[in-house]
Amino acid sequence: MALDNIRLEVMNTVEKQVDGFIKEYLIPVEDIWQPTDLLPNLQGENYMDEINQIREEAKELEYDFWVVLVADMVTEEALPTYESWLMDMEGVEQHGKSRGEENAWSKWVRHWTGEENRHGDTLNKYLYLSGRVNMREVEKTTQYLINDGFDIGTGRDPYRNFVYTSFQELATNISHKRVGQLAKKKGNKMLGKMCNIIAGDEMRHYMAYREFVKTIFEHDPSEMMLAFHDMMKKKIVMPAQFLRESGQGIAEAFENFSNAAQRLGVYTTYDYIEILEKLNGYWEIDKMRSLTDEAEKARDYLMKLPDRMRRIAGRMAIPEDQHTFKWVEANGRL
Ligand SMILES: [Fe+2]
Ligand SMILES: [Fe+2]
Repeated sequence: MALDNIRLEVMNTVEKQVDGFIKEYLIPVEDIWQPTDLLPNLQGENYMDEINQIREEAKELEYDFWVVLVADMVTEEALPTYESWLMDMEGVEQHGKSRGEENAWSKWVRHWTGEENRHGDTLNKYLYLSGRVNMREVEKTTQYLINDGFDIGTGRDPYRNFVYTSFQELATNISHKRVGQLAKKKGNKMLGKMCNIIAGDEMRHYMAYREFVKTIFEHDPSEMMLAFHDMMKKKIVMPAQFLRESGQGIAEAFENFSNAAQRLGVYTTYDYIEILEKLNGYWEIDKMRSLTDEAEKARDYLMKLPDRMRRIAGRMAIPEDQHTFKWVEANGRL
């Protein structure tokens, strides 16, 4: 589906601000943390003590916790899917020189990917060293998830994609932060710090993507509103929507993972609703004027949606049965 010229025009106009967004919301390679800063230094003298510390501390964490940490890590590791998806958006041109210079949107996507790549890397190494999960099964899940891709309902539309990324970056901020808090509560200092620092990256990314949308709202309010409405009406799906374990069909592991995350309180329906409220507030959709009739209706729908969802959420029960995953063997239960 080709987008009408206005969308492309808006993308080209906003592109001039993207270098500024990169400076404001991303951190140069030489200044940003790297996974090794948070993990045992295997070139140092005390590396065995540090590894033993990870393994000892890891014994305190419960079954659901490992399931969620694995799935969070696998979600991060499926980054090739997200990069190629965003690179394919209308208005992003990775083939070098448009108008005599590098396309700033593709630069954003690459630099964002570079930052994100450190997340899966960090958690993968931690899980490997913890000795608490079956890494081979986890690795198979990662490969399956990359093979399976995703379908987030945005098409190549940048407006819909930026709603999605705004939403998801905040969702990952919340879930990494909560996992870090749980780890810290059980005395896992290293893991607590890792998750917290990753959550900080997600927050910066969230702030960037919500700014992209805010800027687009200034240029094309009605179409931006309709795109936001469309995404929320369809519901924001998780990037790991197709998660599976070896031997399973596509997406079969997702629900059990999501139930574990809800049981732990790492990411719940109420978080989803609060994210929506935050986006409604930040974009000030209640104050937006000169919308088309259709966009007015979309805005009304979005304003009422949080309350409507809250009424439904109160009636939903989270299954208590823990599913046994191949990633975390039953004898790993405490
Ligand atoms: Fe991430
Ligand atoms: Fe992210």
